[in-house]
Amino acid sequence: MKNKVPQPAPVAGDMDWFVQARFGMFIHWGTYAAAARHEWVKHNEEIPDGEYEKYFRHFNPDLFCPQDWARMARDAGMKYMVITSKHHEGFCLWDTQYTDYKATNTPCGRDLLREVADAFRAEGLRVGFYYSLIDWHHPDFTIDPIHPMRNHPNAARLNEGRDMNRYREYMRNQVRELLTNFGDIDIIWFDFSYPTAEHKGLKGKGREDWHSEALLALARELQPGIIVDNRLDLPPEMADIHTPEQFQPHGWVTVDGKPVYWETCQTFSGSWGYHRDEATWKSPEQLIQMLVNTVSCGGNLLMNVGPTARGTFDDRAVRSLHAYAEWMRLHARSIYGCTQSAFEAPQDCRYTQNGNRLYLHVFAWPFRHLHLSGLAGKIEYAQLLNDASEIKVIEAPEDKPLPEWMKPGSVTLELPVIKPRVTVPVTRSLTKMSVL
Ligand code: GLC
Repeated sequence: MKNKVPQPAPVAGDMDWFVQARFGMFIHWGTYAAAARHEWVKHNEEIPDGEYEKYFRHFNPDLFCPQDWARMARDAGMKYMVITSKHHEGFCLWDTQYTDYKATNTPCGRDLLREVADAFRAEGLRVGFYYSLIDWHHPDFTIDPIHPMRNHPNAARLNEGRDMNRYREYMRNQVRELLTNFGDIDIIWFDFSYPTAEHKGLKGKGREDWHSEALLALARELQPGIIVDNRLDLPPEMADIHTPEQFQPHGWVTVDGKPVYWETCQTFSGSWGYHRDEATWKSPEQLIQMLVNTVSCGGNLLMNVGPTARGTFDDRAVRSLHAYAEWMRLHARSIYGCTQSAFEAPQDCRYTQNGNRLYLHVFAWPFRHLHLSGLAGKIEYAQLLNDASEIKVIEAPEDKPLPEWMKPGSVTLELPVIKPRVTVPVTRSLTKMSVL
């Protein structure tokens, strides 16, 4: 045994289901899907409101069928979903009382958020809402370093007519709606703060601009047990989960040296919102390795899909989900309820562990032998996970010299020469004692 498995300090949110689940779906959907070139298109191209409005006027996802989305998420092995109720562009997917800039006023005329939430619950997934603190449409949201109008010659003067008090009130009202009118909400994902940003004399936004403490208190009051992320710019211990984005942590995530509950969010390709021409789609192997890596470091993976403006998952997203579905059908036991192991995995392998069940994910299939250190005399039985076929466990002989092909201090698994026909093979060992 090498390390101790980290144990995060208790938090206010209900973490039990979350660490069991390990795998969720992120959904970024708004009128930017029509532009189809990143959810930050309004910022990137500095598009004025009047012009950006065309995506709202033409937003008509005629093929929208949230039951299909939910079924694909469930088949992929995902246990929860977090959807953008409102992203930075300010467009709201639900029938909010507080703005006209909402799905029910587009040609589709539907409360998309409610339909998505209902459909995912019907498939047994938990439901979370992402809510953008940033709003590039609201007339009271002041122009700041990332606002589409940041380079407007009169930005500072235009800000004089904007009143963040009114915007804060708007946010509170909306958060109240989201956490009151949609049943049990398991996660609220506020996004994001940038207090130190500066551009041409404009200042970034943080806790004082959002009144973060009050927003957090409101969320906890309306939905006790709700899990809240760490992007409100509050002291880290007030957040339930920490959210490394677009990179793979290589160990348990810590903040100020202390282990925390964490969830990494990732994309199938480089954009969150639907991006027609973005081409860096990850391979099935990368996708599965990302999930395994995450759980082997004690975290959750929130994998994003950006639906098209017709309301569909495009073919590349469907193929990616299918890669997860195929693998999870046989290997989900090495993901759900698993966490980091105290043992150190051999080269090109990752361990996950659930009680005395130790799962070894083999990223590069070796020739015949895998040597496991620290486990001599501790393995009761080993098998491949995909077909439950036995893997022989070879202990070092006590009375004879060690054969040349063994490694001192290790126990050896005898593998088939041919790699099992799955993307990432997993062996499961039953250890004789609970090692957590
Ligand atoms: C960033 C981006 C955003 C995306 C989010 C997901 O904060 O602003 O577009 O929604 O990350 O984590």
